[in-house]
Amino acid sequence: MKALPDFPWDRLAPYKERASAHPGGITDLSVGTPVDPVPESVRQALAAASDSPGYPLTYGTARLREAAANRLRRTHGVAADPAAVLPTIGSKELVAWLPTLLGVRPGQRVIFPELAYPTYDVGARLAGAEPYATDGLLALGPEPVPLVWVNSPSNPTGRVLPAEHLRKVVSWARERGAVVASDECYIDLGWEESPISILHPDVCGGSHEGLLAVHSLSKRSNLAGYRAAFVAGDPALIKALLEVRKHAGMIMPAPVQAAMTAALDDDAHVAEQRERYAARRAALRPALTAAGWQIEHSEAGLYLWASNGADCWEQVAELAAKGILVTPGDIYGPTGSRHIRVAITASDERIDAAVSRLQ
Ligand SMILES: Cc1ncc(COP(=O)(O)O)c(C=O)c1O
Repeated sequence: MKALPDFPWDRLAPYKERASAHPGGITDLSVGTPVDPVPESVRQALAAASDSPGYPLTYGTARLREAAANRLRRTHGVAADPAAVLPTIGSKELVAWLPTLLGVRPGQRVIFPELAYPTYDVGARLAGAEPYATDGLLALGPEPVPLVWVNSPSNPTGRVLPAEHLRKVVSWARERGAVVASDECYIDLGWEESPISILHPDVCGGSHEGLLAVHSLSKRSNLAGYRAAFVAGDPALIKALLEVRKHAGMIMPAPVQAAMTAALDDDAHVAEQRERYAARRAALRPALTAAGWQIEHSEAGLYLWASNGADCWEQVAELAAKGILVTPGDIYGPTGSRHIRVAITASDERIDAAVSRLQ
């Protein structure tokens, strides 16, 4: 295993302290953690499954896999096979262990975007592989690449990759025998753009070969505390992942499997939660712009990717003095050094407080 980086959020601690000292209290727009209630139907399903003395299936119940495949079909136009769905204990766990689970070897490159969720890099390191951040696949040399991550809508930029772009990634990867893992954590949260899954026929040409889509319920269903996600795609890859995960005890608890099934069966709460975020985004975006920040991308997802031209840590300090905590862009890669990431995941009351402090 390669040395791991410092845990990025630890560097924010002094700014959190400063923001917390604001007389009106902190508005924490740093970590994108949900704050709204877990849907009632999901809580009931969890409670009803609380008497679960036996070991759960690593593969997940047939109902859960069916619910996930149905949701992919209904909402994302993906012809998913319930047999090629596997529950994961949140998606961060899978992101961190996928290179290891796929047998990526030391010295091989794991590719991910230049500005990216830090766990793609961590996953490469855990496997002893070479983390390689690039947005230019075509510039890579001829060496074989085992795994390429894409993330649309992106954390941190909110950028949505069009079908044509994703199609090129898929065909590049297929020519080389690389697996494409698509982290679709924010796919239900498109604002000015409609995100498309890597498994959509317009992207993959109808075959899921070599492709994995990773779906989290943390954000769209307020289930970050339950650790509920799944991976779907190439049946052979899912089978290989299942085999290792069975041996390694990577099992979603049975009550969470039941809760996740209920969440996947119900589209109404997803629409409701979207509306909450849309309102917070509509309040925060113009307030940041009026205060001198330019917003880039941010067409989807839970973040505003913003810059006022200064070094990112100076921007963090300026907002911390107003009691607002945001994330410095360099956590996501060196090209983020003049940006901040502003999450829209605080309560309406806290967002209002931030808006009035920005005025
Ligand atoms: C791009 C991306 N992938 C994965 C995750 C992990 O989410 P979870 O482990 O809660 O499913 C996050 C969380 O913020 C994320 O931003």
